[in-house]
Amino acid sequence: MRRVLITGGGSGIGRAIAHRFADLGDAVTICGRRMEPLEETRGDRNITCRSADVTDDASVQALFDKPYDVVIANAGAGEAARLTDTTLEMWDRTLAVTLTGVFLTFREARRGMQPGGRLIAIASTASLQGGPMIPAYAAAKHGVLGLVRSIALDVAKKGITCNAICPGFTDTDMAETAITGLMERYDTDRDQATAMVVSGNPMGRLIAPEEVAATALFLSSKGAASINGHALSVSGGEV
Ligand SMILES: NC(=O)c1ccc[n+]([C@@H]2O[C@H](COP(=O)([O-])OP(=O)(O)OC[C@H]3O[C@@H](n4cnc5c(N)ncnc54)[C@H](OP(=O)(O)O)[C@@H]3O)[C@@H](O)[C@H]2O)c1
Repeated sequence: MRRVLITGGGSGIGRAIAHRFADLGDAVTICGRRMEPLEETRGDRNITCRSADVTDDASVQALFDKPYDVVIANAGAGEAARLTDTTLEMWDRTLAVTLTGVFLTFREARRGMQPGGRLIAIASTASLQGGPMIPAYAAAKHGVLGLVRSIALDVAKKGITCNAICPGFTDTDMAETAITGLMERYDTDRDQATAMVVSGNPMGRLIAPEEVAATALFLSSKGAASINGHALSVSGGEV
């Protein structure tokens, strides 16, 4: 039984990952700032819920009162705005959760991690390509890849791997926010806004959170022991 920590496990991709690992019998801990969604994710599964803010050093340190075998830095957030509409507060907010949060999580995870350990960042296709409406988010997600590749080289001889998963638009609250934002911005209906969101994916659909969870499961398997410092795109061939 592996000990698995998932940040931002109360919703969306984090929730799907938590369910996937818990259903296999792993000891899953999830964290987020709000307890209610964490408890909803837990339901009647054997999942431990911890309140934590990944932007806060002490809060992250407190999470690691025990070592984990698999740590999935999933918490992240972004706001759509062109460069000239991006305030310093938006920039700082985005980098704090999406980049600094991964740094704090992996730094503490690494301290107690044993051979066989797995560090997995839920990055994004925005780690591999920019977008006119996401300068802060794309910068943070590109930063996540730099962090992952550096950690991968640091842990390579320790039997630990560090990788990133890069999903395209995935069917979660984050995609819903993007769809409603487009409806407002272009005064259009849901179908058209959804079509705009999925147009970047050659498959023409949203990624299912369970598909990202399946990828995390693979990267945490013994068979993936030689995959290190990799950015695995789960995007239907978008990038
Ligand atoms: N959905 C997509 O289209 C998509 C595509 C590519 C990559 N991603 C990435 O996938 C990850 C998960 O996103 P999602 O789509 O599942 O969105 P989501 O449903 O909004 O989930 C984000 C989770 O992160 C938690 N969180 C936010 N700020 C936090 C903080 N400071 N400390 C701790 N937890 C925090 C939230 O819980 P609390 O608010 O309770 O803290 C929430 O449970 C993110 O890194 C996102 O960038 C998403």
